[in-house]
Amino acid sequence: MTQDEMKQKVAEAALDYVREGTIVGVGTGSTANKFIDALAARKDEIVGAVASSEATAKRLRGHGITVLDLNEALTRVNSLSVYIDGADEFDPNKNLTKGGGGALTREKIVAAASDVFVCIVDETKRVATLGAFPLPIEVIPMARALVMNVARKLGGRPELRQGFTTDNGNVIIDVHGLRIDDPLALEDELNSVPGVVTNGIFAHQRADVVLMGTPDGVQVIE
Ligand code: 5RP
Repeated sequence: MTQDEMKQKVAEAALDYVREGTIVGVGTGSTANKFIDALAARKDEIVGAVASSEATAKRLRGHGITVLDLNEALTRVNSLSVYIDGADEFDPNKNLTKGGGGALTREKIVAAASDVFVCIVDETKRVATLGAFPLPIEVIPMARALVMNVARKLGGRPELRQGFTTDNGNVIIDVHGLRIDDPLALEDELNSVPGVVTNGIFAHQRADVVLMGTPDGVQVIE
């Protein structure tokens, strides 16, 4: 089975977590795109979806799925029933690295607004310790050099993502070479630097369930 086929299987499996009459949070990326395409068949059962990026909103609308602004959604319900999204890495505690697509801040917001975070990945994303994938940090442009200096002091090699602006009008710094032994502590430390909007460690917003695609089928990690 190819990586693409494994992504397809987990995207379809995630439909089991979509409850009728609710608002669903939807992530960003190639796996999330497959989920959006699968969700189209169930669009009349849900009230609508909250998107974690402009690209996701566009794809949802393309399928005729109602897209709600998060603030509007939270005037109707206390929380979204579920958030479904991919990841760049996950560890045995279901901590994640995200942001390969640059949508990490909105992804973290929508995850925080949801009762359950279902992470859909193929088995290539499984790691013992986060950090092999360069850690994305969304930064207000003025603070770019400051944040890069902090990343160097932490032992990383920061690189500005070229030609990329986030949906929030900021830049992304990808930090290579960090070994993330304590995801909660590093998430907090980086987020405390002035100018950091958020970083791609999802430890506070770790997944509740990981659906991992393997050549033998979908494994549910709870
Ligand atoms: C986007 C993300 C994605 O979830 C992550 O990059 C995984 O993407 P893909 O499903 O294409 O492998 O965090 O910001």
